[in-house]
Order: sequence, then structure tokens, then C-alpha cells
Amino acid sequence: MSEPLVLVDRRDDGVAVVTLNNGKVNALSGAVTAAIAEVAADLTADPPGAVVITGGEKIFAAGADISEFGGAEEAKGITAGFHAALDAVAAIPRFVIAAVSGYALGGGCELSLACDYRIAGERAVFGQPEILLGTIPGGGGTQRLARLVGPSKAKEMSITGRQVKAEEAFRIGLADEIVPNEELHDRALALAAECARGAVLAQMYAKQAIDRGLSTSLEAGLQIEQELFTESFTTEDSQIGVKSFLEHGPGKAEFTGT
Ligand code: COA
Repeated sequence: MSEPLVLVDRRDDGVAVVTLNNGKVNALSGAVTAAIAEVAADLTADPPGAVVITGGEKIFAAGADISEFGGAEEAKGITAGFHAALDAVAAIPRFVIAAVSGYALGGGCELSLACDYRIAGERAVFGQPEILLGTIPGGGGTQRLARLVGPSKAKEMSITGRQVKAEEAFRIGLADEIVPNEELHDRALALAAECARGAVLAQMYAKQAIDRGLSTSLEAGLQIEQELFTESFTTEDSQIGVKSFLEHGPGKAEFTGT
């Protein structure tokens, strides 16, 4: 049997590590996006404590599999496949960290954008080079990149196809941290493990409030926050957290994830 295109390792510390596994450049073929959608659905149905998504050392992912490109009919299927997969990643109800070592181009960059947080190795390179093929980002890049770095930078990157190295990515808010490449996995795993030990249901509500709020008006977003703040008090963790604070001070609670 051939190796899965996307590997999932559910660790004892509650972190699920998802590794793209499609050869040297991790091209995101239709089969890979389908596998990503399936993995994301599993991680949503049975959530771990936190998720790390990673790719190859030199190439996180080189984007859509260009050999599958054809005319508009194929394009429709490719963009639908990407959106289904990356929306599923964005909907995982836990903190999802992209650990990007090397090139994250096109759909690879878009996959990292669908994550909650991006840690870049010093040799990481991000870009939306679709314009050089005469097309545009089709995996959410025009929307998620613009929301993250602002419309001008998103337009400049998408319209020129210019790739940005880790340092610039960090400066414009595309990468949230930069670490030496050899420390990338340890740093991503440590942050994910810290989250996995936390109040994961409250983390889910925080993520949902921010994501849902960003796609609506401030007024509607503030309403969403009120609802989810209230909802968070139905969890056992909120009882544990408040009690622990009153008895022992801040940061000592041992949450159960319920
Ligand atoms: N889809 C399909 N095949 C791809 C690919 C992609 N997105 N990206 C690279 N490949 C293939 C190359 O055609 C080459 O195939 P070959 O060995 O049969 O000649 C092989 O992968 C290695 O690529 P190469 O460019 O020689 O490797 P590199 O290490 O010099 O550069 C990249 C790696 C990722 C920087 C470079 O391949 C690249 O820029 N890829 C395209 C990225 C892109 O435009 N993505 C958006 C797609 S819409």
C-alpha cells in the first residue's frame, strides 16, 4: 500500500501533527486537498488539544499541482477542492499552528493562511506566484492574505508574484514568529502542547469569536462575543479556572478540556 498523502500523528501530549507527504515539492493535487479535507474533518469530529501542520524541510508546499491545470472547467473543480479543504482546516475547533520551513507558495501559502498562527523557519519563503502563470490565488489567498497583511501588501504580492522571505513575512504580519530552522518543530510543538494543556473549549470559543467577528460588522461581532463568552461559562473548565484563581491565584488551574 502506498503512503498516505497527509500523515497524522496524535501525540500523548494532546498535539496532533499533520504532515504533508506528497513527494519532494508537496504539490497540493486534488488527491492531497481531498486528504487534507478528510484529516480536518477527523480533527473536528474528534479534536485533539491543538494541531501543528507542517510540510517538507525545503518546501512546505509548492502550491496547487500545476500539472492538473487545464481550462476553466478544471479550474472550477480545483478552487472548489481547495476551498473545501482550507475551510475545513480553518474550522478545526482548536488552535492550529502552521510550522513553515522553506517555500510556502500558492496553495501552500494559502494553507498556512487557513491556520491560526504561522511560525516560520529562518529559511521560509511565502508567496502567491499564481500571477506568473496568468491566474490568481484560488485557495482563499485573495481574502485571507488581505485580512492578515492588509489590502495593499496582498495586492502587491498577488499582482507581482513577489515572494517574501521570513524576515519580511514577520514584519508584515504574515509570519507570527521566526525561529532558526532547526528549532522550528520544537517551538511549534511546545506552543501547541501548551495550548493542549489549557482550557481548549474556551480556546475554541475565542477562535470562533475572532473568526466569525472578522467576517461581519463590529456590532454583529460584539454580539457574537457576548454569546460565546456566556457559552464558555457552561464548561467545567470555567468552574475549575475560577475556583483555582480564587484559591491559588492566576495560572495554576488544571483544566480537563470539558
Ligand atoms: N505543481 C506541479 N509540479 C511542481 C510544482 C507545482 N506547484 N512546483 C514544482 N513542481 C515540479 C517542477 O516542475 C519540477 O519537476 P521536474 O523535476 O519533473 O522538472 C520539480 O517539481 C522540482 O521543481 P524545481 O522548480 O526544479 O525545484 P526547486 O527546488 O528549484 O524550486 C519551488 C522549488 C517550489 C520554489 C519551485 O518549484 C516553484 O516555484 N514552484 C511553483 C510554485 C507555484 O507557482 N505555485 C503556485 C501554483 S498555482
